[in-house]
Amino acid sequence: MALLFNSDAARGSIFREVFAGALPDLEVFQSGDDVAPEKIRYLLTWTVPEDIARYPNLEVLFSIGAGVDQFNVEVVPSHLKLVRMVEDGIICMMQEYVALGVLALHRDILAYQEHQRRQHWQALPARQAAECRVGFLGLGMLAQAAIERLRPFGFPLAGWSRSEKRIDGVTCFHGANQLPGFLAQTDVLVCLLPLTEQTHGMLNQDLFAQLPAGARLLHVGRGPQLDQTALIEALDSGHLAAAMLDVTDPEPLPQDHPLWSHPGVMITPHIASVTQPHTAAQAVAENIRRHRAGDELIGLVDRTLGY
Ligand code: NDP
Ligand code: OXD
Repeated sequence: MALLFNSDAARGSIFREVFAGALPDLEVFQSGDDVAPEKIRYLLTWTVPEDIARYPNLEVLFSIGAGVDQFNVEVVPSHLKLVRMVEDGIICMMQEYVALGVLALHRDILAYQEHQRRQHWQALPARQAAECRVGFLGLGMLAQAAIERLRPFGFPLAGWSRSEKRIDGVTCFHGANQLPGFLAQTDVLVCLLPLTEQTHGMLNQDLFAQLPAGARLLHVGRGPQLDQTALIEALDSGHLAAAMLDVTDPEPLPQDHPLWSHPGVMITPHIASVTQPHTAAQAVAENIRRHRAGDELIGLVDRTLGY
């Protein structure tokens, strides 16, 4: 029984080391190693390899990241379990990034950066955190963790999800009918939705129009969820005040793309959160233990929902 690690060798050696301690009987191979394909039960990868069919005994496909939209599920045999990465390292980094982004947007850092470029000294009207309503699109693992980190600042917190949720101190909305009500009361919108057919292109002109004037966007989901032209229009019209984007479409944007130089936009290169090999290896080892014991896997993807 073996695991194939389909990523870079440096990370692979950390996984091997952790697995050697946690699951000494599990053989671990790195892509490119000479291994009999029938040995492989588990595959840890970012994308689905084209030759996936050559592993007849493969049972679980582990994503190296929290998202699974990069998996082309058409070529993944239907009996295979798909598992997204649920590990402390990703969660902590996302908590940091969302706290950073929400605070930066709330405290007008993008506008001050622009002032600095012009050597312009001017205080902008300030609001208390209690007057700045922060709303999350998506109330999953990462959004809920980010919410925990934001609590001490005193922002009124809300979120929107597919299914109904109850989270202490968070105004929860769900489903298409409740989206307008959620948007109408959101000053900083944080997108932490998975990319699916339903969420593709969701951050568009219609959605921006439903946000209060002067709202801000923190986009940490996936690039194709955002209509980038609509964002520029909403910023240029003054309806949106600023946007921080960790994801774009494509990544990176072409050199001459207007978002690069827009004064109301800050771009980071998809670094909000990065899988941490030590904690990720422990999480995968725990899931393999569960799989062997016939227990439910943590982060199992519902193929019908796409996340
Ligand atoms: P989860 O699967 O835990 O949560 C997804 C949330 O989105 C759930 O609350 C779900 O609702 C909601 N949702 C999904 N589809 C819809 C819909 N159509 N309408 C309303 N709500 C919907 O995901 P994570 O929190 O772990 O991760 C979220 C995403 O963050 C990832 O898929 C990835 O794209 C992105 N990400 C970005 C990173 C970066 O560095 N920029 C790093 C890691 C992840 P319900 O609870 O009802 O199911
Ligand atoms: C992820 C990511 O999905 O880095 O983990 O975006």
